[in-house]
Amino acid sequence: MVKIMTSLIQTLSQIVGDAFVAEGLDAAMGAVRVSDRPDLAQFQCNGAMMAAKAAKKNPRAVADAISARLSANPIFAKIEIAGPGFINLVLTDAYLSGFAEGLKGDDRFGAVPYATGKTMVLDYGGPNVAKAMHIGHLRPCIIGDCLRRMAIFAGYKAIGDVHLGDWGTPMGMILSELEINHPEWPYFDANFTGPYPAEPPVTMADLEVIYPRAANACKDDPARMDAARQATVELQDGRPGYRALWKHFVDVSIAGVKRNYDLLGVHFDLWKGEADSHPYIAPMVDDLRKRGIAIEDNGAVIVPVKTDDDQKEIPPLILYKRDGAVMYGTTDLATIVERVKDFNPDKIVYVVDQRQSLHFEQVFRAARIGAIVRDDVELTHAGFGTMNGADGKPFKTRAGGVMRLEDMIGMARDAVVEQMKSANVAQDMDDAAKDKVALQVAVAAIKFADLQNQRQSDYIFDLNRFTSFEGKTGPYLQYQAVRIKSLLKKAADQGFEPADTITVNDEGRALILLMAEWPETVEMALRNYTPHVLCDFVYRMANAYSSFYGNYHILSESDAGLRSSRLALSALTFKHIELALNMLGIDVPERM
Ligand code: ARG
Repeated sequence: MVKIMTSLIQTLSQIVGDAFVAEGLDAAMGAVRVSDRPDLAQFQCNGAMMAAKAAKKNPRAVADAISARLSANPIFAKIEIAGPGFINLVLTDAYLSGFAEGLKGDDRFGAVPYATGKTMVLDYGGPNVAKAMHIGHLRPCIIGDCLRRMAIFAGYKAIGDVHLGDWGTPMGMILSELEINHPEWPYFDANFTGPYPAEPPVTMADLEVIYPRAANACKDDPARMDAARQATVELQDGRPGYRALWKHFVDVSIAGVKRNYDLLGVHFDLWKGEADSHPYIAPMVDDLRKRGIAIEDNGAVIVPVKTDDDQKEIPPLILYKRDGAVMYGTTDLATIVERVKDFNPDKIVYVVDQRQSLHFEQVFRAARIGAIVRDDVELTHAGFGTMNGADGKPFKTRAGGVMRLEDMIGMARDAVVEQMKSANVAQDMDDAAKDKVALQVAVAAIKFADLQNQRQSDYIFDLNRFTSFEGKTGPYLQYQAVRIKSLLKKAADQGFEPADTITVNDEGRALILLMAEWPETVEMALRNYTPHVLCDFVYRMANAYSSFYGNYHILSESDAGLRSSRLALSALTFKHIELALNMLGIDVPERM
């Protein structure tokens, strides 16, 4: 029977909590965590002080009593009281060996799925139709896809939605521009009864030229802007020729979007867009108006969201502009209606630029005021900072333009090819294999460089640093993982097998204790939507393995028992690093 592992921290908290209960105190005070002072202890419990206060006892005396009870338990090698009543704990190596034994048979490393039966919708795409994807689309998809992977691991039914920007004024700008240039197209003939040609004569490359031209024309000429607005309203109202052309813009744009996401190994479950919320808008607004939540204001329809407690000004959410067009906030609110109907989610998480925080504040408030979601549904804007250039301003191409995502990935791949040469990595491979590894490493470099930052911080785009095989980088971690993998393979080739048991002692203690931190680490990373916590974890593990590897012989060890135990620890570490990297969206190459 496979033993179901629970986290070591949980097990210890249970044991210490029981001791608190036996002293007539609150079990929750027995919570154990990893020690702040690894030089003094492995774990600590800080609850004696609080428990003593509640029970009007001396904290030191409470800690002593708990410690006396715990000392009857053979799992502890050392129990010490420090300061006013901190309980410091050290486990016996024998106990840690048993724990390591359990990890060998547990692909989840003690992390129990806690969200089974719950649903999380994640919104981390947002590329806009008719525009090439640019580096601004990088952060949401890297962070969001990582959160999606963590959510699945936690047990959620996770739904990643690309939520294309396919419904705003830009669509009307393109339509009216085309109408001026090609009035003879059947799409612009209001009396045309169809069918339309299968392939409208507009390619993605055309759109990339047409859109900026149309946008400029609208900026300079109010009449053009009016025409674009009019076309937007008619598109949204369902004018057939506009809809047919628009559908084509969406299709050709999606092809490019998919190519980018495929290169990055980013997955979406749903390929919906703002337009999909359209059928929900009118009934939603009607309902909100009936209930007095949406009101008319100067010809527009708005939801006031400011409360008396607000210190700052929070403008109302606009549902319909005076010309009847819907806004970004309208589609986001109606998309909540749609998501509730389709998935009944427990959480909806938006991985979107920090600079849109006011927008989400307005939408979330309107959703709460309008009871569009159950009270217990979490709505979170997991905002992120900007990727800047060396000048500290949002990253631009050398010519000062916005860099295409594909070009950026290509640059990273070129940089990796250079780094592989100078680090003498993968040089024995044929070109096809080398290419494959170069892309895997480039994607790892980009993703890790992004994810390792605090989500809200800005960071500086520095390909040289990101792609280095040294330091806290994706390539370094992949390299460490591959090195363990090839060590295990070499061992197998020589007939050396990993031991069945892992005997924990000075050699492996640090690694096993680190593994014990996994369940709480991965849970915290998801709870706060902070992938950097996972990055720190895997980096620490790679370093811990690196010192283990530097300090002890493995293949060249003549003592068969030591060798096989070290191999077993290596295999376990590999399995763990691979799990953590995969959660970051990083592949471990077959070899390097
Ligand atoms: N398309 C939007 C933009 O370019 C991002 C969409 C983010 N997601 C959302 N549900 N609003 O700014």
